[in-house]
Amino acid sequence: MPFQFNFSIEENAENELETLGDTALQLGSAQGSLNADGSTEKSKEVSAERVVHQESLCAGEATPKTADPVANHSPDKSQFQVLPKEQACFKVAKEHSIPEDVSKVLENKVIEVVQGLYYVNISVVEMNLTDGSHEEDIVSKSISSHSDLITGIYEGGLKIWECTFDLIDYLSETEIQFINKTVLDLGCGAGLLGILALKGKAEKVHFQDYNSTVIDEITLPNVVANCGGGGGDDGGISEPPSKRQKKTDFIPALMSKCRFFSGEWTEFSQLMLSSNKSLSKYDLILTSETIYNPEYYSALHDTVSKLLNKNGRIYLASKVHYFGVGGGVHIFEKFIEERNVFRTRTVKVIDEGLARYIIEMAFKSSI
Ligand SMILES: C[S@@+](CC[C@H](N)C(=O)[O-])C[C@H]1O[C@@H](n2cnc3c(N)ncnc32)[C@H](O)[C@@H]1O
Repeated sequence: MPFQFNFSIEENAENELETLGDTALQLGSAQGSLNADGSTEKSKEVSAERVVHQESLCAGEATPKTADPVANHSPDKSQFQVLPKEQACFKVAKEHSIPEDVSKVLENKVIEVVQGLYYVNISVVEMNLTDGSHEEDIVSKSISSHSDLITGIYEGGLKIWECTFDLIDYLSETEIQFINKTVLDLGCGAGLLGILALKGKAEKVHFQDYNSTVIDEITLPNVVANCGGGGGDDGGISEPPSKRQKKTDFIPALMSKCRFFSGEWTEFSQLMLSSNKSLSKYDLILTSETIYNPEYYSALHDTVSKLLNKNGRIYLASKVHYFGVGGGVHIFEKFIEERNVFRTRTVKVIDEGLARYIIEMAFKSSI
């Protein structure tokens, strides 16, 4: 049952709202056939991005490389566009401030519930973002390229990927304790994993996504909705709209435990390590569907090794293989083994069609 804040969506738009599938929420317009040839049209777009976005680092300035474009055979209908290395840009990291009046981030949003967590309906956000007014313009790019991922431009955070729900299930089943822990939701997208930690009384929760649009339009609103920023403890969604709209001008206490970041992983870890605010490393790093591209493994590995507490744990959820980009559980584990820094342990396998894994990682030197 969707709830809406400051409703201003046209009737036909409302009718297009996506329904929640068994395990995944899809960004409807990001479905389609893959154009994996790094076409001339896309090259123009990327060149434009180089000029417009001062905060982007282009290939050659940042290290991750891109895989060769490969035709997509993905059984879960995810579509990937892997740009040649020289066409990809990588985003400088930045921290996003929490607006003073957090209820504003829920304006024009439709709130839904899954597994006891509130989230903004992505199709509605998408509709509000197609006017080209947002700097990254990732919705239009995702639609025009028929891709759920465009290397170095849009890394998939507008959609809730199914392994997020696997990891939520696993963390709940095993009663992983968040109390007083410092937690990072790495490659957070909707941020449901971090929100789970927040609700589990984590001391601090940081959210990182590649795209600033995702943080501003999806992650932050989701956290607000789960922190009572829209009204009462339930995010205000049980209150009549008149009351909801009057409850403004406060930052819910829970929000003060959160920080939000966008940017490429190497850039993010540099930002965190160079920050004036003393960084206490993370006790837990939660990350779902972030190992699809082997070209990012080095940045991912270095980031988590710099930011994880010496006795901390990483819980990573992933499909066994990502057709079209080439990453997956086994190739990632091999990479980790070769680096010889972390030990890995498969803690759960969901063997339905394309298998999905939950992996626990810890420093080899840890207890
Ligand atoms: C497929 S999405 C998964 C989103 C979310 N974790 C989920 O399961 O719904 C992958 C996420 O990883 C992040 N990501 C991927 N590659 C990245 C990179 N090189 N640097 C920073 N973030 C990256 C993006 O922010 C993106 O949201």
